[in-house]
Amino acid sequence: MTETTKSPSADWLRDLPLAPGAPDLRMGTRSLDVTDWLPVDDKTAAEIELRRALLAEHGSDVARIVPGHETALTELTSLIEIHLQRRLEPSVGSPIEQLAVATAEDILLMWRDEKHWRLIGGTLLFPNQWTLDEKIGKTLANIHAPVDGYDELLEARMDQFFDRLSAARPVWRRNWFFHDDPNFYQPNRLAQAPVATVDEVDSLFIRSEWQTLRRLAFSGLLVFTVKTQVAPIAELKARPAIAEQMCVFIESATPRSLENKDATDRDAAILDYLRSP
Ligand code: HEM
Repeated sequence: MTETTKSPSADWLRDLPLAPGAPDLRMGTRSLDVTDWLPVDDKTAAEIELRRALLAEHGSDVARIVPGHETALTELTSLIEIHLQRRLEPSVGSPIEQLAVATAEDILLMWRDEKHWRLIGGTLLFPNQWTLDEKIGKTLANIHAPVDGYDELLEARMDQFFDRLSAARPVWRRNWFFHDDPNFYQPNRLAQAPVATVDEVDSLFIRSEWQTLRRLAFSGLLVFTVKTQVAPIAELKARPAIAEQMCVFIESATPRSLENKDATDRDAAILDYLRSP
């Protein structure tokens, strides 16, 4: 087993939503102080370098926007430039390509037609098992179709929540999953490997997305940002209070909730690992 480590760059583990019991899925949104939008940390520069390489390799598969929304993209670019207090680099390419490497976050744009909010594009260099191709143009409900329980627990509230979000009151939420693979670029939905022993658990990772939602004041579109963070499970074990909260979460989770976290058939081994001395 890896020696237990505790790196400050994994301190985000203390923010994992680990409230035990039902419901299986939660909105979990909280109000965001806009000064905390698009945070820069010790990993940002390396993540932007990785984004440059991924953009060069995958082009419009990872950064594109449906034609007709150029004004909103200009508004978003200005907002980001003011927030970061620097210009985006024009030499990178088109406005959406400049956006792709301006921050460590993926940035997606949602537009409302007469009935529903739809994804109309953005940047997706750190996908957690989905692609722009698969979701662009789709409604919130269709985007979330693979999420077991979404239709029953969240769908009715979502469009209304998006309608009510004001430019002055952005929100954030965080999700998390167990993963076999620490790579940030994971477009494919692959079955996770079976994990039965404590040593096998030691090679797992926690992948989490810190997500924000903010309305553009003029165009009215919604900006969804996704900051991806990955830590070896040893970092969780190195934080015993959070590790115990995780154990309580797992013990009280429904089969559907375990499935949503990629913990099915791994739960007993993960509990053994986290509670072993
Ligand atoms: C308040 C806003 C939102 C809520 C409450 C929400 C909720 C969820 C939940 C519960 C999941 C399952 C995994 C997890 O726990 O995160 C999920 C997955 C996902 N969400 Fe959202 N979501 C929101 C906004 C968005 C937006 C704006 C997009 C636009 C792209 C989006 C795209 C996705 C995708 C692509 C997945 C993975 C679906 C798949 O497996 O194919 N979500 N969302």
